[in-house]
Amino acid sequence: MLDTGLTQPVSRAHFAGLGLAVPDRVLTNEELSAMVDTTDEWITTRTGIHTRHVLRAGEKLSDLATEAGKQALSNAKIGADNLDMVLCATTSGDYLWPAMACVVQGNLGAKRACAFDVSAACSGFCYAVATASAFIESGAARNILVIGADCLSRHVNWSDRSTCILFGDGAGAAVLTAGSPDSGVLTSTLGTDGSMVEHVWMPTGGSANPVTEEMLVNGEFGLQMRGRDVYRFCVEVVPKSIVESLCRVGLKPADVDLLVLHQANLRIIGAVADRLGIDESRCFTNVGRYGNTSAASVPMALAEAAHEGKIAPGGVVVTAGFGAGLTWAVNVIKWTGN
Ligand code: UT7
Repeated sequence: MLDTGLTQPVSRAHFAGLGLAVPDRVLTNEELSAMVDTTDEWITTRTGIHTRHVLRAGEKLSDLATEAGKQALSNAKIGADNLDMVLCATTSGDYLWPAMACVVQGNLGAKRACAFDVSAACSGFCYAVATASAFIESGAARNILVIGADCLSRHVNWSDRSTCILFGDGAGAAVLTAGSPDSGVLTSTLGTDGSMVEHVWMPTGGSANPVTEEMLVNGEFGLQMRGRDVYRFCVEVVPKSIVESLCRVGLKPADVDLLVLHQANLRIIGAVADRLGIDESRCFTNVGRYGNTSAASVPMALAEAAHEGKIAPGGVVVTAGFGAGLTWAVNVIKWTGN
């Protein structure tokens, strides 16, 4: 496990602006009930999800990521030409390569910025924030656009009722900028347990198992998940990691003004918040409207929370992601942005 924030840097990464974009096509539980053997009642009670947004044929994830990035830049009042780096957290970019961050950098005209993707599934945005913070704290970069974007609607097996009902598409973005060392991203924790790779994964389509005609005919493709095992793991490891992260900077769960967890499932969010003693009023959720948008869920939730006035300057915000790898990540932020 990697702990950051062990030394006092000259400057820290501050959230200066946020953005969010989703496709306009909304897929309801009722529509899913006509596609697979499920019901609105099962989906709602087990996950809290009512609707999710999905890309239409021909639409591209990089366009959502670019739109979210433009909003974040506009809210931060920073021009694309002032960016030193564009980071995209994604596992479902437009192409196998190059990185989607390169496509977004080109779309934005962020000519000075280097660009690369961070692949840590649903933990991706929190991993990317930790990466951006390290570059800012080292003095190597001042302004970094961090985007979380995914379109797992393109990668689920639409005949597998245990997974296809969970996911939605979207993008969220944040501009991180160098500022005072007394606030901003105070610390991050990044964790991985690679012995659980097969708990949630895309086993086909990579170099180990390239897609064959036979796989397509037999429906042997798409995301696979042992939901119950992932659930148990997350509820165990995430609260522990949040408490450790807070403790490192002299804080405790009672000091948290807003908890923004990866929006995988309302029950997981509730269980993690309960273990931390954080009540509903300090825990942001929007999984009901968007489903699990993987790396996009944390920045989308941050953008909505800020828009709704739920994050005030000086407030302590904790974000946490968890998912394939298995990976998990926590950022503790003393908020200064808008
Ligand atoms: O973001 C990446 C990380 N992923 C996660 O965080 C996901 C973590 N896991 C979960 O959120 C939950 O485990 C799920 C929502 C995926 C599943 O909920 P669950 O309460 O763990 O259900 P389950 O998998 O134990 O399945 C219970 C029953 C099974 O039937 P039997 O064996 O009890 O007869 C399933 O076959 O529900 C059945 N089932 C469904 N029934 C109706 C599974 N999916 C469906 C469905 N509709 N869509």
